[in-house]
Amino acid sequence: MDTKKIQIIIGSTRPGRIGNQVAEWIKQEFNEPANIKIEIIDLLDINLPFMDELALPSSGQYTKDHTKTWSNKIKEGDGYIWLTPEYNAGYSASIKNAIDYLYQEWSDKPILIASYGVGGGSTANHNLTDVASRLKAKVIEPTIELTIHREMRDESGQLKDPVNDFKIYHEAVETSLQSLINLVNNAKLVSV
Ligand SMILES: Cc1cc2nc3c(=O)[nH]c(=O)nc-3n(C[C@H](O)[C@H](O)[C@H](O)COP(=O)(O)O)c2cc1C
Repeated sequence: MDTKKIQIIIGSTRPGRIGNQVAEWIKQEFNEPANIKIEIIDLLDINLPFMDELALPSSGQYTKDHTKTWSNKIKEGDGYIWLTPEYNAGYSASIKNAIDYLYQEWSDKPILIASYGVGGGSTANHNLTDVASRLKAKVIEPTIELTIHREMRDESGQLKDPVNDFKIYHEAVETSLQSLINLVNNAKLVSV
């Protein structure tokens, strides 16, 4: 079987964020089949400015080096996890900006949406599902919603013990990840 890649995109960039911890937890929840490689992509490292391309992304006419680099990075993926915090009843601006730079790179690709927040980030999750559908992605159901309680954080706001605290999600997450893997393995190759 061909080797495939699933990319987990961390949608938060603020100092003191927990997005990186949540991404690491999701990564270790993968029962990584031999042919699947999991890569965490940190938008802090990608460092995109606000969308600054002239042509519509659906044209694929990219002029900026940062857009070409971002496009090439995403083209390496066969499936994605869009991981977003909930900020003021929405997804993060940084993940939306990164998504909007591209178009065909997402089309027909399996995407699993994962959110977190005091109520699982469910509003962000639903809104991001609409975005993925508009891009003609294959949205994996059920999506992942992780509730973050105050007691789960230490004095600096970091998660104290995500492996233990997220145990209750293990079965549900396993189902979603398996659906993503199945779709990644069965998806027809789409050239972009
Ligand atoms: C600007 C801002 C707005 C927030 N709004 C919400 C919200 O509407 N709903 C929610 O569940 N949590 C909200 N939160 C709490 C975040 O979900 C929580 O702080 C989470 O850790 C943010 O992700 P991050 O640490 O990766 O940035 C908000 C946090 C910030 C910083």
